[in-house]
Amino acid sequence: MFSSKSLLRSLRQSGQLPVHDFLAPALFAPTSRRCISTTTPKSNASAAAPSNQEGSAAAGTPKPKRKPLTKEQRDFLSSALRVNQAGELAATLIYTAQKPPLVNAHPHLRPLMSHMYEQEAGHLRTFNVLIAKHRVRPTALYPVWSVLASGLGWGTAVLGREAAMACTEAVETEIGTHYNSQIRSLLEMFEGWEAEGYEVGPEFRDLVGTLRRIRDEELEHLDHALENDAKQAKPYWLLTSVIKAGCRGAIWASEKV
Ligand SMILES: [Fe+2]
Ligand SMILES: [Fe+2]
Repeated sequence: MFSSKSLLRSLRQSGQLPVHDFLAPALFAPTSRRCISTTTPKSNASAAAPSNQEGSAAAGTPKPKRKPLTKEQRDFLSSALRVNQAGELAATLIYTAQKPPLVNAHPHLRPLMSHMYEQEAGHLRTFNVLIAKHRVRPTALYPVWSVLASGLGWGTAVLGREAAMACTEAVETEIGTHYNSQIRSLLEMFEGWEAEGYEVGPEFRDLVGTLRRIRDEELEHLDHALENDAKQAKPYWLLTSVIKAGCRGAIWASEKV
């Protein structure tokens, strides 16, 4: 089980934590390091206006002008990282539970199942690091999602190859939509900052790049499911409708709890 405390401790010890913490930058930012958060340091508060340049004239290099996050933006980012981490945990558990019965009945699916699992495990590692780095509380519903995801994976695999693939199709359809929505919200946030003369900063650009990469990999899983007869599952409509509704409910709950 992932431990955000131990991960947080190791990040702090390794010195990685302060640099990219755009949600609460002031707590751990050492004075000797450059702070790339969007929060304007108090000492430079007068330089917050877009028409002014932050930074030391003596150094000769103007520091980027970053707009402090509003509470609404902080809440959005916290929710986004929390729900993404929960979703990726569920994805790894679904594939873990699906693989034994599915590969036992259809050995040719072993490489595909391993490939998709490895990608999900990579996504989970990414969000584990991000929620620790930004000190976002993981969802309190971890135990619930763990049981439901494992049950869903095992149950659909026992129903057969088509049902397992229909499960992947339904989950990835919802997750792809979910990531697209987050990417759109972030890009709108960036547009607002740039319109006011602020810079976005590499940490936010990196976040959008990460979300796009993961979104594309989820849609690759969706394609694999369709190529492997997801639509032949019986009863296809009922199965995919229930799973999609479950995903939407889990996303809604994990954003809040
Ligand atoms: Fe994923
Ligand atoms: Fe996926």
